[in-house]
Amino acid sequence: MRPILIAGNWKMHKTQAQAREFLREFGTALQSSSQDSVPLTRTVSERQVILCVPYTDLAVVVEQTQGSGIAVGAQNLHWEDQGAFTGEISGPMLVELGVRYVIVGHSERRQYFGESDETVNQRLAAAQRHGLIPILCVGESKHQRDQGLTESWILEQLDRGLAGIDLEHLVIAYEPIWAIGTGETCAAQEANRVIGLIRQHVGQAHLSILYGGSVKASNIDEIMAQPQIDGVLVGGASLEPKEFARIANYQ
Ligand code: G3P
Repeated sequence: MRPILIAGNWKMHKTQAQAREFLREFGTALQSSSQDSVPLTRTVSERQVILCVPYTDLAVVVEQTQGSGIAVGAQNLHWEDQGAFTGEISGPMLVELGVRYVIVGHSERRQYFGESDETVNQRLAAAQRHGLIPILCVGESKHQRDQGLTESWILEQLDRGLAGIDLEHLVIAYEPIWAIGTGETCAAQEANRVIGLIRQHVGQAHLSILYGGSVKASNIDEIMAQPQIDGVLVGGASLEPKEFARIANYQ
């Protein structure tokens, strides 16, 4: 049985005060049957909810979710444990904060910050070296899809990114770039097909593979009904507590 992961990627949103407010409302929304505000001290459910938050929110979110079953993730890490890398954050720093997951290779880091499959590979290795579970993001552009290059591009990203990486302690997220932040969600059956190809190529039966790209409360049930999809990586909709709770409580 592959773990079901419902992950939110806050990207560059929420101050610590806004993070605290989110968690107050999220606790109530998750326990939607309760009448009063419920602190995040109960087990959320058999599904693993993960909040991948900005570095400045990590300590607060870890503290506020203690005992709730919610895991906390970072959105990147450097491959060195320390050094003259201004602005960077290391694996040991994340581990000390109680972080368990870390997104690696998000398309926005590839697009805006020069991330390559080679640096993705280094970051994946660093995450695993420190006992963090990396969430590797792969996905094609609209142009690549239109040119019929989806499969070859993604398999190349996997081969280059996963060289020498332990497939036992890894999550993969298929995030078609053209679906990120656009409201144009990939059709559930197509996402299922591509994720099936990823699973077959990686050859690791217990690997959780997520879908990301305009996931909303309105489409989560259809997405999660797909047999190959083990969860979602949610951007915009994870910023709103009621919406993200509905996603976490998909039917
Ligand atoms: O990492 C998830 C993110 O890229 C998806 O963003 O806003 O389309 O859900 P969004």
